[in-house]
Amino acid sequence: MTRSRSASSRSAGNALAASGWASVRTPARHPGWPARLGPVRVTGGVVELRKPRLRDGAAWSRVRMRDQHYLEMWEPSAPGTWAERNSNVAWLSQWSALRSLARRGQSLPFVITLDGAFAGQITIGNIIRGSLCSAWVGYWVAADLAGAGVATAAVALVVDHCFAVSGLHRLEATVRPENAASLRVLAKLGFRHEGLFKRYLDVAGDWRDHHCLAITAEEASGGMVAKLRADGRAGFG
Ligand SMILES: CC(C)(COP(=O)(O)OP(=O)(O)OC[C@H]1O[C@@H](n2cnc3c(N)ncnc32)[C@H](O)[C@@H]1OP(=O)(O)O)[C@@H](O)C(=O)NCCC(=O)NCCS
Repeated sequence: MTRSRSASSRSAGNALAASGWASVRTPARHPGWPARLGPVRVTGGVVELRKPRLRDGAAWSRVRMRDQHYLEMWEPSAPGTWAERNSNVAWLSQWSALRSLARRGQSLPFVITLDGAFAGQITIGNIIRGSLCSAWVGYWVAADLAGAGVATAAVALVVDHCFAVSGLHRLEATVRPENAASLRVLAKLGFRHEGLFKRYLDVAGDWRDHHCLAITAEEASGGMVAKLRADGRAGFG
């Protein structure tokens, strides 16, 4: 079993390396971190992923304050007002928590950029290794960039990275049934529907049902970015 898992990861890695898709430094205990992923060209421009920076605070806060109504109906409830949680000052604790989780090998937190400018975030969280080698993926993109293929490219990049470089075997995403755009992102990439989690997560002040969608390394062995290119949804950077 271990042999076939390594072989499938290796062959995905070879296919991706051949496409010149990522440059990575690989510390021993957290393979695949830190990393810069991309570029991938989509309708909206050139998508790249990089680690969050302390100086992202102003852009992060500006977008999230502007897009409160677009974002908060999909995000987990948390203490404090939206303004308190998304101020420029709040970024310091967010950034620090993300950096600490990444350093401990529990997360791969990325900022999404479009043509070099801050466009959103995508995070691989709750990384469990051992015989599970699994994690979740979560993402958001600025409202004024919606529908331009940005989130799809970002998810494709992290899926390829997790399977080919980080040594994970399964990724899952949980999505409210009402979130048609997010379900469409995952459908375009071939995520499989696994079930409905009833009253799963406190979002916007109530316990909300969520679909669970997942993908394994074997299902993504040809590479997600390669699939987007083959489907005519992405080009080279
Ligand atoms: C979900 C989200 C990340 C998608 O980002 P995006 O960059 O617009 O995604 P893409 O452009 O790659 O793909 C979106 C797809 O959904 C489709 N779509 C958008 N709104 C839709 C709707 N109401 N019904 C059906 N499809 C819809 C788009 O047409 C596109 O599909 P297409 O390429 O076949 O045309 C973004 O809308 C967002 O940040 N929403 C708020 C936060 C959130 O929901 N995060 C995910 C939580 S699970």
